[in-house]
Amino acid sequence: MNLNVDNFQDKTLYEQVADRIQRLIAEGTLQVGDRLPSVRRLHKQLSVSISTVLEAYRLLEDQGLIEARPQSGYFVKRASLIHLEEPQDSTQPQQQAPIEVSLAFRVSNHMRHSDRVNLGAAVPGTELLPIATLNRLMGQVIRANADDVHAYQASKGCEPLRHEAAKRLMDAGCSVTPGEIVVTNGTTEALHLSLRAVTCPGDTVAIESPTYYGLLEALESLHLKALEIPTHPKEGICLENLEAALQARKVTACALVSNFSNPLGSCMGDRKKQQLVELLNRYELPLVEDDIYGELQFEGSRPKAIKAFDTEGRVLYCTSVSKTLSPGLRVGWAVAGRYQVKVEQLKMSLNWMTSVASQLTVAAFLSNGGFDRHLRHLRRAYQSQLHRTSQAICEWFPAETRVSRPEGGYVLWLEMPPSFDAMELYEEASQHNISIAPGIMFSPSGSYQNCFRLNCGIPWSEEVHQAIQKLGYLSKRQLAARMLGMEDSRIV
Ligand SMILES: Cc1ncc(COP(=O)(O)O)c(C=O)c1O
Repeated sequence: MNLNVDNFQDKTLYEQVADRIQRLIAEGTLQVGDRLPSVRRLHKQLSVSISTVLEAYRLLEDQGLIEARPQSGYFVKRASLIHLEEPQDSTQPQQQAPIEVSLAFRVSNHMRHSDRVNLGAAVPGTELLPIATLNRLMGQVIRANADDVHAYQASKGCEPLRHEAAKRLMDAGCSVTPGEIVVTNGTTEALHLSLRAVTCPGDTVAIESPTYYGLLEALESLHLKALEIPTHPKEGICLENLEAALQARKVTACALVSNFSNPLGSCMGDRKKQQLVELLNRYELPLVEDDIYGELQFEGSRPKAIKAFDTEGRVLYCTSVSKTLSPGLRVGWAVAGRYQVKVEQLKMSLNWMTSVASQLTVAAFLSNGGFDRHLRHLRRAYQSQLHRTSQAICEWFPAETRVSRPEGGYVLWLEMPPSFDAMELYEEASQHNISIAPGIMFSPSGSYQNCFRLNCGIPWSEEVHQAIQKLGYLSKRQLAARMLGMEDSRIV
């Protein structure tokens, strides 16, 4: 076996070893059931340490590609490929739906209960977050700025954080100065401020369908109407449908999640991002871009933001560290282009500023806490969790199940046959202390009753595996009951 290891990639040695083996599996050189070279043999062959080989094998195990058999070595695993279909494009009727999100509010509160296996709320497992480092940095920050952390500071945020945020935005293809950044209480506030800056109550906002329910909550609280635009599970919002909607009616703004969206996991390609910006310019339409998952790609470099293509300042870019560092610190930012002053004023009038201790802690982590190393670890963990969950779905769910294949982030979208009722599954799963996010939460018109979203942000465990198995069983039972014409699947 030829396993030349590249020394110059932006990957650790063991990741490079794992990559090579992964490629040999993908190309069919190593087939299901084949034994991998022993750890000692590979160590000699590649001139890498034993622990490097062990780490590489552990990574491949985490990805579900190989398995260790006691006293026999490592073998290529069965069923390493996800064989279920992907969800279909959404085909929403284009109506301006009045938004009613009380269900989303009730369900999202319920999903967060600590006694549940949380496959509902899209939250990262605390085990994956650098909590000890953040706490240490926060202590240092408070000691070093004992008075400042208790004083009013500039509404647009602390300079060190805006400086770090501007640096990170370079990876997303955006060249912005620290002065163009407004620090917010998470992405949620950035979205609210941005929407308020470009709309008035009663206006219509074009959104992806399905879309993140927090965006629907924001639209509702601002008395805005939503216009659902069909969305592709891999490529995001359909530009032809968006343009047709813009021609047919008055739309004041568009709002979407550009990279590894929630709930579909879609990620728009660069060409499409460029075309979208051209469309915005033609129709003089502002776009609220939520890029909260943009740094969580599994392979290659971070996808660009739509903002990177924005030459006329029409994109209001929103993000936070909630999915990478800490949802609890409530630190995010907006880059609002031509609407910047308005966003700053709104921030000031709403809550003056974001907690200084939180801002400076995040700034300290971004500048010297090893953020890139942490991100590499996090991406691998999310990828492996997502992969294992997908495999368990293949194993336990009905064959008709369609499941998304995101290339970043940590949520999966499942589409069941049309007769399926995800609310019924949600109620039943709750009784087994498992939470899921039913599809109708993601649509103001109540579509997607046969779909649901699963959170893969929490580390894989036997408990999670059993929860997926249980959901698969409940889904099969419900479909069997439907086939027999029964309303209540518990009879089957
Ligand atoms: C797409 C999207 N935007 C925004 C948020 C909320 O972000 P934050 O906690 O930074 O307010 C979430 C959280 O799940 C999300 O999935």
